[in-house]
Amino acid sequence: MRVLVTGGCGFIGSHQVVALLDAGHDVVVLDDLSNSSLDAIDGVAAICGRPPEVIVGDVREPAVVRGALAGCDAVIHFAAKKHVPESTVLAREYHDVNVGGLLALIQAAAELGVYRLVYSSSGSVYGDGLDRPIPETTTPAPTNPYSRTKLMGEWILADLAAAEPQWEITALRYFNPAGAHPSGLIGEDPIGPPSNLLPILLDVAERRAATVTIAGDDFATPDGTGVRDYVHVMDVADAHLAALDRSAPGFRVLNIGRGVPTSVMDLLGAVERTVGRRLARRVGPRRPGDVAFLTADPTLAEEVLGLAAHRSLDRICADGWNRRLVARTDGDHERTEAG
Ligand code: WQD
Repeated sequence: MRVLVTGGCGFIGSHQVVALLDAGHDVVVLDDLSNSSLDAIDGVAAICGRPPEVIVGDVREPAVVRGALAGCDAVIHFAAKKHVPESTVLAREYHDVNVGGLLALIQAAAELGVYRLVYSSSGSVYGDGLDRPIPETTTPAPTNPYSRTKLMGEWILADLAAAEPQWEITALRYFNPAGAHPSGLIGEDPIGPPSNLLPILLDVAERRAATVTIAGDDFATPDGTGVRDYVHVMDVADAHLAALDRSAPGFRVLNIGRGVPTSVMDLLGAVERTVGRRLARRVGPRRPGDVAFLTADPTLAEEVLGLAAHRSLDRICADGWNRRLVARTDGDHERTEAG
């Protein structure tokens, strides 16, 4: 198939492009490079032996989206803003990009008859107050503008599929994608300082940062630190491939995670095992919007997609660390000092 990947230069998007090209699909990427760079495409081409087609543009622009969708059989929609604390300040921008961008995409897709869609949603729609692996039957209770834009997108798509039976839509609620392609030629390379825990720990391991601040150790969790479900980014990419291969009429929601509750201290320990040394840490205040516990119950996804996230936490850390070592020798993606 010819597949449009919006946000295809980003962390998950670029790994998705590798999985699609390796599976023999043709890929066109639409990305505005607001939180990514074309370096990722060089890495993809080095891994796959061929590059995707790339269009630099804004998913909110109907003419741009129509151009990107021309000749496509399916679309995987990653392009969105995704930083929870930032969304509480830039709510207008988050709704414009995340909801407005989705609306522009589905209008163009309807005009061009591209009805097969996989939508990047988020486990953060489940909100706070949970303490065990979460199934899709759990009522979402988003607690910030970012996760509300993700849930609104799901509602829009559910209405669309109910009104127009030709649509085949899957929403994947990922928990915490992490790690990198085993080649190390692509990875989680944010523009500027990282906000997610694994890249922050890897910065300390690389001595780009002196210490990691544990954002609160008074949560109602076994060791008091935040519990999440870290899932290898290639497992996330494989899940999207399976969702396309097993596309079906209607709208469905699936949780994508390993189903293994993992605290900040658990991940810190796993990174220390990987890099072979203790990392300096300090306890600081909670971050605004942080919840105690988010871990997937991945049972339904395994049933529907026929596959489970199988890469371990140690594999996630090893591949994430390898990306740093490869990027250093390649000299690519040299983050500025601010980064
Ligand atoms: C993980 C844990 C923090 C930094 C993110 C995105 C969200 C979604 C999932 C896409 C938490 C703790 C963090 C630090 C820390 N992505 N932490 N010190 O917040 O679960 O969500 O990934 O859908 O959009 O925001 O991930 O990696 O920021 O935090 O202690 O310096 O690490 O409290 O418990 P989060 P994260």
